[in-house]
Amino acid sequence: PMDQQVQELLAQMTVEEKLGQLSQRHVNNATAESELRVEDVLEDIRAGRVGSVLNQFNHFFTLEERNLMQKVAVEESRLGIPIIFAHDVIHGYETAFPINLAQSCTWSEEMVEKAAQLAGKEAAMAGVDWTFAPMVDISRDPRWGRISECFGEDPFLNGRFGAATVRGFQGQDLADPYTIAACMKHFVGYGAGLGGRDYQEVEISDRTLNEIYLPPFKACLDAGVVTAMSGFQDINGHPATGNQRLFRNLLKEQWAFDGFVVSDWEAVAQLATHGYAKDSTVAAEKALTAGIDMEMKTLCYRDLGEAFKRGALSEELLDEAVGRILKVKLQLGLFDQPFVEEQPENKKSVHQEAQVVARQMAAASMVLLQNKQGILPLQQDQLRQIAVVGPFAKEQNLMGWWKSVADPEAVTSPLEGMRRNAPQGVIISDRLTATTDVIILCVGEEWTTFGEAHSRSDIKLPGQQEELIRQMSQYGKPVITVVFNGRPLDLSGVLPHTDGLLLAWHPGTTAGDALSDVLWGKYNPAGKLTTSFPKSVGQLPVYYNHKNSGRPTQNNYIDEDADPLFPFGFGLSYTSFDYANLKIDQTTLSEGETINISVEVHNTGAYDGHEVVQLYSRNMVGSTTRPVKELKDFKRIFLKAGEKRLVKFSLSAEDIKVLNERFEAVLEAGLLKVWLGPNSAEGLEATVRIQ
Ligand code: IFM
Repeated sequence: PMDQQVQELLAQMTVEEKLGQLSQRHVNNATAESELRVEDVLEDIRAGRVGSVLNQFNHFFTLEERNLMQKVAVEESRLGIPIIFAHDVIHGYETAFPINLAQSCTWSEEMVEKAAQLAGKEAAMAGVDWTFAPMVDISRDPRWGRISECFGEDPFLNGRFGAATVRGFQGQDLADPYTIAACMKHFVGYGAGLGGRDYQEVEISDRTLNEIYLPPFKACLDAGVVTAMSGFQDINGHPATGNQRLFRNLLKEQWAFDGFVVSDWEAVAQLATHGYAKDSTVAAEKALTAGIDMEMKTLCYRDLGEAFKRGALSEELLDEAVGRILKVKLQLGLFDQPFVEEQPENKKSVHQEAQVVARQMAAASMVLLQNKQGILPLQQDQLRQIAVVGPFAKEQNLMGWWKSVADPEAVTSPLEGMRRNAPQGVIISDRLTATTDVIILCVGEEWTTFGEAHSRSDIKLPGQQEELIRQMSQYGKPVITVVFNGRPLDLSGVLPHTDGLLLAWHPGTTAGDALSDVLWGKYNPAGKLTTSFPKSVGQLPVYYNHKNSGRPTQNNYIDEDADPLFPFGFGLSYTSFDYANLKIDQTTLSEGETINISVEVHNTGAYDGHEVVQLYSRNMVGSTTRPVKELKDFKRIFLKAGEKRLVKFSLSAEDIKVLNERFEAVLEAGLLKVWLGPNSAEGLEATVRIQ
């Protein structure tokens, strides 16, 4: 019936009205003259020239204004087609959850899904129908400012968390008033910009594209994502937004994606800047032909009317794009329920729940990197005075780049969080005195030093912060360094001068509360890195799933080895976990079979805690070379102090198939090594023969 409704609408639409559906306008009430205000778009909406309205960063128009635009669309335009309202809900709406890179360090799909669900609810109640997330652009270069928005360097993890995000936003039924449409972005390869520069060209071989960059998108598609966004960048000589092979042939035909594709911001017009189209009309022709259904911000598509009337472009192409957009609007229930009512009571309860989940998630995303002499958790009975100092001690803007409407004033700063949650009798001071027992030194990256168009050529702590840490270490008091970062950093200059080192990322609204939960051991840290942390910027790119080379012991630098400072998957706990008795139920694996692998994990320390048990494998030989390790699965378990558990995994022939020359997944005979362990550099090993 939906397809029939689409066909009926298409039959009534003029070419101009069809092109209108492909147009996404940016409406932003609060900024410069050059920006469109609500009243500026009403006439275009009435004339059927607007299919979607986007509002960036802050939801500057009110719910009333949103409904006004919608009213003009459904009651005053000729065909009454509703507008789909879009806004970047990236890691929260009113409540800021940790940045996505931090979210991935929880290794909890459940938490990631829940956070997206609550962010989606908050946004839906404010009139948002559609978000531009998840971003599943693999990045191996922490200089890139947008690495903060993805789920790390691994394709499997990006797929798992991307899919969890899609489920969270879209729920069971898109027509539910509390769900919003998700958008997987940026198809594809945007995270591989040369030199870590944003918008920069990428060179990706077909094999790497298929093995590394595409799988997370496929996982989002399998989770039912209804929209996709094209990347800004040139990929192998063809800008993504004009790339027929990627969108028309792969995404729409081969993968049978039946949602719609939106360009990135002005990316259609930018085809001319790339030198890929001589003017904006050719840019529009190329983008639409490539399979980009909706144009964000610019109005190049609008000029295509002539080409359709002349028959230079087939109207089928246009109908296909419009049909996809109408279908998503129908799925969202926008035709039946175009307006959003104020719901103060619901809003309050969702917001309260979001705060609780955000605090749990922020604590779970923090990664403990060093804990000399068990300095952490802080011991109430041994401490009288704690100094919480450093440039980030009083910082509230710890919400990353896409904070949406979240208010920095509502964020608990590290100092405030430590004060608010301090045990009786412990003084939390903002300065260092002779009676200070321990120093909590808060350092990091401001939100303006990462994010879009904010790459850095150096990835040490900015400014004089390393020097500050060195000075603090001279006082003869234990120093616990807490880093509020938006990207993997080079912490080699920090490590020798601090007793404790905790990565807090940009944790969002509940920053200080979550920090205090971790430092006092109310929450035992269990976060594990989802990117390798390099020893220097010169090592980049450094990633765990690299190839072996023919001289694996000689391919270091003469002034440094090639291992990261902290490997992918690494993170400490206040307790310790022992791995023993790796068991595998068969030593051969053939087509259609599954092997069972188990390991005993023992909490041998004094604290209850979570552990992320990771399963890696390596095909030792193949028709093409394979990475030295590939993450295949993981389990996040909870063990009481002293508790031992048998943790079971299964690995099927499907899981270890490799792509042959035609990119078909095949089982190739040879040895397979498998590891179960606490990170990508450690673990117990077994061997299986693939036959
Ligand atoms: O969704 C974003 C995209 O990731 C970068 N450019 C702007 C879009 C809309 O705000």
